[in-house]
Amino acid sequence: MNSFTYFSPTKLVFGRDAVEQLNGLIDDKHKKILLHYGGGSIKRTGLYGRVIKILKDRKLEIFELSGVEPNPKLSLVRRGIELCIRNEISFILAVGGGSVIDSAKAIAIGALYDGDIWECFLDESKVKAALPVGVILTLPATGSEASASTVITNEEGMLKRSLDSDYIRPEFAILNPELTLTLPDKLTFAGITDIISHVLERYFTPTENVDLTDHLCEATLRSVMENAYKLIEDPNDYNARAEIMLSGTIAHCGILGLGRREDWASHRIGHEITALYGTTHGVTLSIVFPSWMKYVYKEKIDRFVRFAVKVFDVNAGGKKDEEIALEGIAKFEDFLKDIGMPVRLSEIGITTEHFELMAEKCTSGGSVGSFKELNKEDVINILELAL
Ligand code: NZQ
Ligand code: ZN
Repeated sequence: MNSFTYFSPTKLVFGRDAVEQLNGLIDDKHKKILLHYGGGSIKRTGLYGRVIKILKDRKLEIFELSGVEPNPKLSLVRRGIELCIRNEISFILAVGGGSVIDSAKAIAIGALYDGDIWECFLDESKVKAALPVGVILTLPATGSEASASTVITNEEGMLKRSLDSDYIRPEFAILNPELTLTLPDKLTFAGITDIISHVLERYFTPTENVDLTDHLCEATLRSVMENAYKLIEDPNDYNARAEIMLSGTIAHCGILGLGRREDWASHRIGHEITALYGTTHGVTLSIVFPSWMKYVYKEKIDRFVRFAVKVFDVNAGGKKDEEIALEGIAKFEDFLKDIGMPVRLSEIGITTEHFELMAEKCTSGGSVGSFKELNKEDVINILELAL
């Protein structure tokens, strides 16, 4: 196991009455807050009205910035920063999915950064402070509600880049599974794919002797898949929604990666697909991850054998390692198909046309991944496997 320092300050408030606890979660010292949200789902569901009432009862001065798009853009972040500085806003409340939370986190950094926010995405050591952010989560997927990351797209050059800093771990996250009942199936299952991918990015590690986190990863994967099938049967199953919501937070708050090198190549490749085609994040992962697995499994086949046996109950008796590993990968792909996710680029109309460009952008800062360090050719090969 590798040495590590872990910092996780996010207070999790979970359950049917979680939103009503918002009042007690924002410190009295904050008088002016930014309410940040997306394209209107929170108005349609009535959540907006509930939140506004609570904030007004507190006599907080509310500044609103809506319009966060899926895969949030730098231009809106810049507007948010300007709004915060001009009005001396001291707290940001993000209400929505990962895009809204990420936009809020970037604004939080920019409001206290003496320079242009994109500089921090190019060099995260420049981040020395951020405004506090609170979250009301409506889409379990990214884990951004308790993660140290923000992912923003710079429209100039269509660069989708992430920034990691403990300064942007949210102060609190309100998690009411009922808020996810309004999600269309496509978003529910794209979110589930993202949650699973966050576990896999940690599970497939070159680090040895990480038993506890191996078991935690396997338990999380099994639980998410079990509950995904329950949601296919009954999308209104509160308990299944609750399990998925908690898994989303656990999968990406950092616990599952303690003491191990993580990979993240599939996410990096997925981000290039989104940057060019606007593809939903979870969809990029359901296409890239199985191909990545087929490309890298020989690097450390025992890890893939373990995955097959512990996560998919593959019967190893009398079989060669390669056969077991490939059976595990096939079962993973079957699961993705079962939940209605595409597993090939051709299913979403993407051809080889921009493979070269995507691979170039993906590896412009050097190799990606740690399970196998991938260069530009490797990325192209993985995209070709995904066709
Ligand atoms: O914009 P509104 O109207 O709110 O609608 C949203 C949006 O259109 C809708 N939605 C959200 N909650 C809903 C709902 N519709 C009905 N009922 C609800 N309860 O869902 C759509 C997608 O929302 P978005 O926030 O974009 O989805 P997601 O949570 O999957 O976030 C994706 C973004 O997060 C990044 C991704 O790259 C992508 O940009 N990630 C962030 C991470 C992090 N910060 O730690 C890690 C992840 O790996 C990921 O990269
Ligand atoms: Zn993700």
